Amino acid sequence: MKFDNFFEKNREVLQLLYGVFLIVMIPMLILYNAVFIIKNYNKSIDVSLRKHAVSIGRALIPYVEENFDDKETLNKKILALTESNPELLEISIAVKESDKYTIVASSNEEEKEKTYNNVFYQLSYNQQINDGIANSSFSKDREDAFSGDGERYWEVGMPIQDGETKIGVFSMKISSKIIDDLTQENRNRSFYLLFGEVVVVILFLLLAVRFWDYVLLYKKIKEADQMKDEFISIASHELRTPVTGIKGYSSMMLDGSFGELNEKIKEGAKMIKGASERLGVLVDDLLNVSRIEQGRMSFDKKETDVKPIIEGIVDELNIQAKEKNLELKTAFPEDDLPKLNIDTERLKQVLVNLIGNSIKYTEKGSVIVSIELGSDNLMSIKIKDTGIGMNEEERKRLFQKFYRVQNEKTQKIVGTGLGLWITKKITEAMGGKIIVDSIKGTGTEISIKFPIIKK
Ligand SMILES: Nc1ncnc2c1ncn2[C@@H]1O[C@H](COP(=O)(O)OP(=O)(O)OP(=O)(O)O)[C@@H](O)[C@H]1O
Ligand SMILES: [Mg+2]
Repeated sequence: MKFDNFFEKNREVLQLLYGVFLIVMIPMLILYNAVFIIKNYNKSIDVSLRKHAVSIGRALIPYVEENFDDKETLNKKILALTESNPELLEISIAVKESDKYTIVASSNEEEKEKTYNNVFYQLSYNQQINDGIANSSFSKDREDAFSGDGERYWEVGMPIQDGETKIGVFSMKISSKIIDDLTQENRNRSFYLLFGEVVVVILFLLLAVRFWDYVLLYKKIKEADQMKDEFISIASHELRTPVTGIKGYSSMMLDGSFGELNEKIKEGAKMIKGASERLGVLVDDLLNVSRIEQGRMSFDKKETDVKPIIEGIVDELNIQAKEKNLELKTAFPEDDLPKLNIDTERLKQVLVNLIGNSIKYTEKGSVIVSIELGSDNLMSIKIKDTGIGMNEEERKRLFQKFYRVQNEKTQKIVGTGLGLWITKKITEAMGGKIIVDSIKGTGTEISIKFPIIKK
């Protein structure tokens, strides 16, 4: 629990740290891996180069031993060898005298007659017959051994023998330029590739880190949405009681429960009653919206004969229709109708909304409520008016929450734009669907269709 709290509080910091960690660690690991592979590759190349150098030496040794006694011929032959073979940089033959090694023949003029007593010669001399040592070094003209553009050579040393006894040392410098250049090229290529890889990985990780922002944003939006739902739910509940009070008391004032009122006060009380009724409708709509959104709207579905229900609502709304001089009537088929499996109260709500709209948005003419049975086992309840109608664009947006058509005809008509949104949700929740047909300036027909109960 404590850890959860800590995580919750420092979530953004932790996520940032995690992001930075990944962005640093992943490219580093890739880099480490590549460098490791290249290093190993170099090592194995060196092992094979060393073997190669020693075997060249071994191949040349008999040739040297053959001519060992005639130093002049030996010198010529060595020279010829190095000249014809650019890989062979230098060949020298040294004779061991007590502890010193004196060069008796060499392809390098400067080396001749020189005397050495160094580890290389000692080690070379002490090698087994037909074996040798090979060390790699960089050529002298090379300034920076690490820049990769100097020439590397292998210094091979092995004993020369006369019969069974060792008499001197054969030493040779072989260039590994060709192979080194190729290796270098490969290495460069893999570094470019590595660089590209690291860039791609960093870009990818940056993108991934951006996703957290979206996730956080999404969570915040969800929280805000939930808070809004709760607010609507609480506010509408709390508003209901005072609105009922205002409605009740203004009615009682108009009834004369508080004594005779003069015309002016009566007028005022009527205004209060009208306004509180509108407020009541709004509060009810908001309550319905919050119930639907939170999945709290209950449906008590049962077998229902819809005719009497429609008639009841039409009777109720006829008062409003008459006030506007509209004809409101029903047109039902003569025969008995099949029943529907629906919640009566919810169906009433739907009918009040739809027939109410037709009355609201019709200036003259009629509103007719009819029932039709389709061959598709559906019963349609149609509400057809001769009202202001709507165009295609308006029709498409009709069921959006808070949508109201804005024009000079609708300007003076009050409403929230929630009625049809609620109507559609309720209809669909009871297994029905809602279809709109409308012509601007001519009228509208809205049908709700429900599956009939088969007998
Ligand atoms: N029968 C109709 N004829 C013409 N326009 C209509 C009709 N029914 C609905 N409309 C248009 O659709 C809009 C949305 O209707 P809806 O019932 O959702 O909201 P409302 O009637 O404005 O407000 P309320 O939430 O109080 O019902 C209306 O504002 C109106 O412009
Ligand atoms: Mg409405």
